[in-house]
Amino acid sequence: MISFLRRLEGGDEENERDYLFAEQVFSFCQRGNFKRERDMDLFEKCDSDGGYFGPFRAQDDFFFSRPILDPIPGTTTIFEGKKCIQWSINNYLGLAENEEIKAFAVKMVEKYGLSAPMGSRMMTGNTKYHREFEQSLADYLEKEAAVVFNYGYLGVLGTMSSLVEKNDTIVIDKLSHASMVDGMFLSQGKFRAYKHNDMDSLESHLKRINRDRKGGILIVTEGVFGMRGDLADLPNICDLKEKYDARLFIDDAHGFGVMHETGKGTAAYFGVQDRIDVYFGTFAKAFAAIGGVSAADKKVIDWIKYNARTQVFAKSMPMVYVEVLKRTLEVIKNGADRREKMYENANMLKSGLLNLGYNVGRVPSPITAVYVPAGDLNIGMLIIKKLREQGIFITGVMYPVVPKGIILFRMIPTASHSKEEIQKTIEAFKSVRDELNLRLDTLQAAVL
Ligand SMILES: Cc1ncc(COP(=O)(O)O)c(C=O)c1O
Repeated sequence: MISFLRRLEGGDEENERDYLFAEQVFSFCQRGNFKRERDMDLFEKCDSDGGYFGPFRAQDDFFFSRPILDPIPGTTTIFEGKKCIQWSINNYLGLAENEEIKAFAVKMVEKYGLSAPMGSRMMTGNTKYHREFEQSLADYLEKEAAVVFNYGYLGVLGTMSSLVEKNDTIVIDKLSHASMVDGMFLSQGKFRAYKHNDMDSLESHLKRINRDRKGGILIVTEGVFGMRGDLADLPNICDLKEKYDARLFIDDAHGFGVMHETGKGTAAYFGVQDRIDVYFGTFAKAFAAIGGVSAADKKVIDWIKYNARTQVFAKSMPMVYVEVLKRTLEVIKNGADRREKMYENANMLKSGLLNLGYNVGRVPSPITAVYVPAGDLNIGMLIIKKLREQGIFITGVMYPVVPKGIILFRMIPTASHSKEEIQKTIEAFKSVRDELNLRLDTLQAAVL
């Protein structure tokens, strides 16, 4: 903890209090409200209700946390024996249920099994197929080169930690995903957090670093912020990174395949793809598979390939995924119709809920964040329960995923939801509003 505070540049008390981000870091160190006594056995905490989502764990909950669902993804799911409309999976373009891709995957399993190739990319796990796939990704993303990782999470960790060394500084948007926070910890660098999407805050950090600058600077942000669906102010971030001679990494997990008519992501949406130093996307969302990709100049990608510990010391991406993802990339490239349908669905859902008086984030991405009145956990849980009784499956998002005081339902409208499913969902929200007599005008402090 103390070593963390030393690395948090400007980590004086006032500054810490200021930053919700610091809470995220504290939670990383302390994991909730568990108080550690001296001489306590390592496992004693496991009997407590501390740690992340501790009260849910202590109650062996399978309703609000870890709900047990039918494994086949789609617009419906089975929960506790009941068919429900599914609003909680990141299947933006509806590719999870694409029969052609599924049939191709079966063929690839027959050809390769699950073992191929054996070994890491450095030793025995590199193939021309991996290289070809990476080149197609680079071409699509308008970068010189790309490198794939087995998980998006590992890709963020590996990319950030390989690039940032002792004298360098990471300047991170305080609402960035945990993978970026962890990437920061894994790196050797110092770090500063700027207020969410606040360009004055970003600039003041860059100025201070430049006063007695020793190393490089990496600005780190999500493209589409995955919980609330708002976008990083990339044009202004690019201006600042150029003004202060920094580099920019964007984790566009929720924009990749989704944003811009080409699906190239949030930077393409803003017309600044060529100004992004390292673009990152995951295959776990619009691509409906698993894995991640970093794309940048060739020399940068070569460096990452040789230095990202999450890549160098791990088995390479299985052939089945390489082949299927390459096929999926073609569907994504030609997916303008799917994206249009997804946006149509998102607009219908958002406007339906707004008309009912719900507090919905007004954001350009399809993510539909419905804020729980007054950020009240009990009301949030009650709404979830009532909606599920009516066959609508939503999940709640709370601290430490979002800052303390915010509770929201993060709904993902996909290209495959039908108008009937959306209408039924809006009606269910209406009946829950009326049954619980919800005071929807009670805003949360931090709502967009
Ligand atoms: C913004 C962001 N980055 C990274 C990740 C991790 O990606 P993956 O699930 O592919 O490991 C996620 C997943 O939730 C995410 O939302």
